[in-house]
Amino acid sequence: MLALPNMVASETDYSQYVNLFQGTTGGGNRFPGVVAAPFAMVKLGADVQSGKTDAYSGYLPSGSIWGFSMMHESGTGGAPKYGVVSQMPVVGNVSDPQSDLSQDRASPDEAEVGYYKSSLVSGVVVELAATEHAGLYQYTFPKGDAASVVVDVSHVLPSFRGLGWEQHYSKGSFSLFPDGHYEGSGTYNNGWNLSPDWTIYFCGRFNQKSSSARTFISGSNVTPKSQVSGTAPLGGVFTFSETNITSRVGISYISTSQACQSLEREIPERTTLRTLVDNSKRIWNNQVFSKVQISSTDTTDLTLLYSNLYGMSLLPSNLTGENPGWTSAEPYYSDIFTLWDTHRCHTPLFHILQPAAYEEFIRSLIDIWKHDGFMPDARSSNFNGRVQGGSNADNVLADAYVKGLRGNINWEQGYRAMVTDAENVPPNNHDPKAPDSSTKEGRGALPDWLKYGYITPTFTRAVSRAVEYSANDFALHQVAKGLAKTADAEKYLKRSRNWRNHWDPNCTSNGHRGFVVPRRANGSFIVQDPMKCDGCYWGDAYYEDNAWVYSMNAPHDAAELVKLVGGKDKFVDRIDKLFDLKVFNAANEPGFTAPFLYNFVPGQQHRSVERSRQISKSYNTGTGGLPGNSDAGAMESNILWQMIGLWPLAGQTTFLILSPWFASMIINLSNGKTLKITSTGGNRDTAFYIQSLKVNGQQWDKAWVTYQDIFEKGGTMEFVLGSQPKDWATGELPPSPATEVSRKSGDQ
Ligand SMILES: *[C@@H]1O[C@H](CO)[C@@H](O)[C@H](O)[C@H]1NC(C)=O
Ligand SMILES: *[C@@H]1O[C@H](CO)[C@@H](O)[C@H](O)[C@H]1NC(C)=O
Ligand SMILES: *[C@@H]1O[C@H](CO)[C@@H](O)[C@H](O)[C@H]1NC(C)=O
Ligand SMILES: *[C@@H]1O[C@H](CO)[C@@H](O)[C@H](O)[C@H]1NC(C)=O
Ligand SMILES: *[C@@H]1O[C@H](CO)[C@@H](O)[C@H](O)[C@H]1NC(C)=O
Ligand SMILES: *[C@@H]1O[C@H](CO)[C@@H](O)[C@H](O)[C@H]1NC(C)=O
Repeated sequence: MLALPNMVASETDYSQYVNLFQGTTGGGNRFPGVVAAPFAMVKLGADVQSGKTDAYSGYLPSGSIWGFSMMHESGTGGAPKYGVVSQMPVVGNVSDPQSDLSQDRASPDEAEVGYYKSSLVSGVVVELAATEHAGLYQYTFPKGDAASVVVDVSHVLPSFRGLGWEQHYSKGSFSLFPDGHYEGSGTYNNGWNLSPDWTIYFCGRFNQKSSSARTFISGSNVTPKSQVSGTAPLGGVFTFSETNITSRVGISYISTSQACQSLEREIPERTTLRTLVDNSKRIWNNQVFSKVQISSTDTTDLTLLYSNLYGMSLLPSNLTGENPGWTSAEPYYSDIFTLWDTHRCHTPLFHILQPAAYEEFIRSLIDIWKHDGFMPDARSSNFNGRVQGGSNADNVLADAYVKGLRGNINWEQGYRAMVTDAENVPPNNHDPKAPDSSTKEGRGALPDWLKYGYITPTFTRAVSRAVEYSANDFALHQVAKGLAKTADAEKYLKRSRNWRNHWDPNCTSNGHRGFVVPRRANGSFIVQDPMKCDGCYWGDAYYEDNAWVYSMNAPHDAAELVKLVGGKDKFVDRIDKLFDLKVFNAANEPGFTAPFLYNFVPGQQHRSVERSRQISKSYNTGTGGLPGNSDAGAMESNILWQMIGLWPLAGQTTFLILSPWFASMIINLSNGKTLKITSTGGNRDTAFYIQSLKVNGQQWDKAWVTYQDIFEKGGTMEFVLGSQPKDWATGELPPSPATEVSRKSGDQ
């Protein structure tokens, strides 16, 4: 463990509690390498190969390391992306740089915030540190043999799934300069977002003088020159007589000269690894970890809290100044993987904890619309894609808008970007997985949505898209209302109710009647077992969840939903059934909100608390500590909300109240304001029921609070907890803004 020598006594090194390997196995796919600051462009780490296993973040716990590369995603599924600008240390001279140079580990990799170490069986020890746009590799080679480093520009993470989402090396260039440094670029394509060619530039320097340096290019019989380029795999080989080699590399989407400038600015020649690691820990402590403080001194609590705060702050990447697509004064963020995953609970927490970055992120989404035509639902290598359901940037913008985020955001433009999603059919990108309409951006099934108010089986994922389009339209309603666009506000409110058009009141399952089902153009419903969905994938009627889950997915219209399912008792039983029938999957985002909808029924808030505790059990501090893919922080933010004891309804100011974990949690908000959540009488596992609550000193009888109540100006929530449920939430139910006023009571 590298301690922090320069830290003054009063500063707490929260980074010591981060388990970098949390969520790196069991499908979590979290990236354990070096991310020097929240949302940093450089994500430097080991690329591991193990049979035909896809290494989504590059890392796998077992298998051989075949390179250390500078760009990765964190926690994604689909297919690996990036794994580019790689280098590999090799003991001895390298006769064939394109032979298998991979090495098993002599011991498990080690990592701390800002630091990564691999010990290879070849005897080479690799230590990594980084900044936002550059990385430092510190190699310690065994004595007695030459030390070589191979830079292979064709290196890119493979995929073995056979779904057509594998990345390809397209072309590259590599130049050696007389002073020993090298520059070049690699161009790659495809991946999960079916991206065309994109290029990353690099600039590398070694702190030691090499005894030999040469380029290579595949298939070339002539001795390569100091400069090689083309579509064949190519790169460089550097050999040293010393054992300790420091390699520094800058990267840029713009040019080799920008990569060189970033390198010299961020990691000048004599910078030590230690300095970079210390800086990184300090940045994470100051910008992220110190914003949330808990009373617990239990290491497990602290590890769970700070590891998840870390894991939710790796994506998106702040690429301001690194946008190859257009020139703009606006900030630029990419590596959005995906808003489909993150809009429910990640972006609302991102907003609260990182308001400055969040404002830049929103501006960037709008700027992408301005120049690319559509906001992304997902975006990597500066290319929109894929869209799994609706246009969920709409929900993200609405959530920011209703919570008062203004700053330098041009909301008139933001609203126009949302209207583009709601009214303009995106060009079909002819995706083999879903050839009916665009999976790149926007709402592909819009023609049906506009014509019928529902989506026919002409379109894949028809039912789940319809449910999401309703929420998207509700988002437009929210912003239109705020901008005093009364007619639009009314129009989109009506459209936000269209999920109801898929509701077949005769469809039955496990004692329940009424589910969202596929619907033909002639208006008839298609008979469908709500427990089944034929794989729930790209070509099916429901995506990644079945009718049981999607039928509970209209929180903006919750009172109507309660009515449709047959009243309060049936509604409660529906939520129960999600668990009893094992439909609920803590790893899957479409189901994230349903466990807390008990708050919409008088006297049932304690059931949401029970579900909160139950869901929390699928997390731990270990490598398998996430229930599924991190999904760019969606999973991490979920457990953080459970700890806080609130659940956001994205696009509304409403937070459903759960039950906090700690005697005290203080969250720093902007401008020195804080939200202080305290509890007495509680025990996380046995005494978690709310007995009473005060909000800002006032007795509280509602199972919800608003953003304005506690976050806008800061606030306090004082809970008294106990081991038995108590009917404390006797006040007004949470709002159902899309439900017509006459139906609002939800009474049966
Ligand atoms: C390795 O390369 C160096 C530099 O080109 C050369 O001096 C040395 O003889 C080579 N060693 C072997 C074992 O080939
Ligand atoms: C090489 O690095 C190792 C490990 O960091 C260190 O112990 C050793 O002193 C270094 N040797 C030289 C010559 O710098
Ligand atoms: C959060 O508040 C605590 C206590 O006031 C303070 O020590 C810490 O530096 C603050 N962190 C940030 C990022 O403002
Ligand atoms: C994003 O990156 C730009 C350029 O490096 C920087 O100026 C800006 O402060 C960054 N944003 C945040 C929130 O750190
Ligand atoms: C539901 O079933 C009843 C009885 O068969 C039928 O009269 C009614 O039209 C059905 N409703 C719908 C919406 O299909
Ligand atoms: C609608 O189409 C289906 C399938 O072709 C057919 O079975 C059904 O009778 C039609 N219903 C109406 C109301 O026309």
